[in-house]
Amino acid sequence: MSGYKGIIFDLDGVLCHTDEYHYLAWKALADKIGVPFDRQVNERLRGVSRMESLDIILERATRSYTDAEKAALATEKNEMYRGFLAKMTPDDLPTGVGETLATLRARGYRLAIGSSSRNTPLITERLGIVSAFDAVADGNEITHSKPDPEVFLLAAEKLRLAPADCLVVEDAESGVSAAIAGGFTAAGIGSAKDDPRVTYRLDALSDLTALLP
Ligand code: BG6
Ligand code: MG
Repeated sequence: MSGYKGIIFDLDGVLCHTDEYHYLAWKALADKIGVPFDRQVNERLRGVSRMESLDIILERATRSYTDAEKAALATEKNEMYRGFLAKMTPDDLPTGVGETLATLRARGYRLAIGSSSRNTPLITERLGIVSAFDAVADGNEITHSKPDPEVFLLAAEKLRLAPADCLVVEDAESGVSAAIAGGFTAAGIGSAKDDPRVTYRLDALSDLTALLP
């Protein structure tokens, strides 16, 4: 018996493959300004806000950038990224995700999204999963992105549940840190599957239906 009442899902890299679109857009921007950027650096961007992600990429730059230049670069990346999002349809929802959410909800769990992304409303709308959740907390509503627990605490509050009653599903090291700092139990998938701090290791989101009664 798990005892959880709610499940809070990260979005990018957990419910959908938009993490790859983030990588492709940052890679195009980094190539354009001549800053080395690869998948290893990209791992550090998971769960981190747009501006903090840019700061991590610019650690390898050979010159400094003003705040105005950084704002322009972040906007350019976001426009490229939203170009990918605009082409998404419900067919881009990974196999088994819709069924898993429906099964968990039918079992009585309250479901939320807890994402650092300001593009969360657009993504959930493109994928047709808005109505699959009881609450959404995203980057538009918080001041501190993961590893700060703010977004997960807000999601739990919207579900009217205590953190101890919620399981957080994450693909990011920063997201697992946020979950644990907030008093949640964490399940890891993708890049976070082998994080020693997670309680459950998932090969696929559908594994949750076997773990949670
Ligand atoms: C997180 C992603 O979900 O959202 C990060 O893992 C991203 O890579 C962050 O930087 C902010 O996203 P957005 O869509 O607001 O630029
Ligand atoms: Mg993620």
